[in-house]
Amino acid sequence: MAIRINGTDVAPPDDARVSLLDLLRDRLHLTGTKVGCNQGACGACTVLLDGERVLSCLTLAAQVDGRAVTTIEGLGADALSPLQVAFLEHDGLQCGYCTPGQICAASAMLDEIEAGVPSYITRDLSGPVTLSRDEVRERMSGNLCRCGAHNGIVDAIMAVAAERAA
Ligand code: FES
Ligand code: FES
Repeated sequence: MAIRINGTDVAPPDDARVSLLDLLRDRLHLTGTKVGCNQGACGACTVLLDGERVLSCLTLAAQVDGRAVTTIEGLGADALSPLQVAFLEHDGLQCGYCTPGQICAASAMLDEIEAGVPSYITRDLSGPVTLSRDEVRERMSGNLCRCGAHNGIVDAIMAVAAERAA
């Protein structure tokens, strides 16, 4: 088997203890994915696994054998993605350390909204999910920004959601 990372098949590590985060950064030199807490609390290491967001520090590389991983390098491979452009336009970053994880999480979050997946604060579970700034805040609450760029991040995500809905 192999792990498909940004469209390229990679052999899983022989050592079953290697995390997906360490496989990406230390062995494949895909350093776009960042290390923050390394214990599941900050979201800096967020990547997409078959299109859904996961914390790569809490995921063993061996667990994703046969599955598809997308990192920030994969999202912006040919040109900046709409989210990347929006983060720039809306000042959704300062030092940028949290940004790859924020953008991977936002990418999956917008897909969740489109698929009608409710969040903890969604009031009406019977109808389509309405996007609001509070919904974005709730759904992005696992991604911390020590620079405090959260308002710009919400602005950027709302702008991309509006573009998609147009
Ligand atoms: S580095 Fe994975 S959640 Fe903080
Ligand atoms: S932009 Fe610096 S941690 Fe978020």
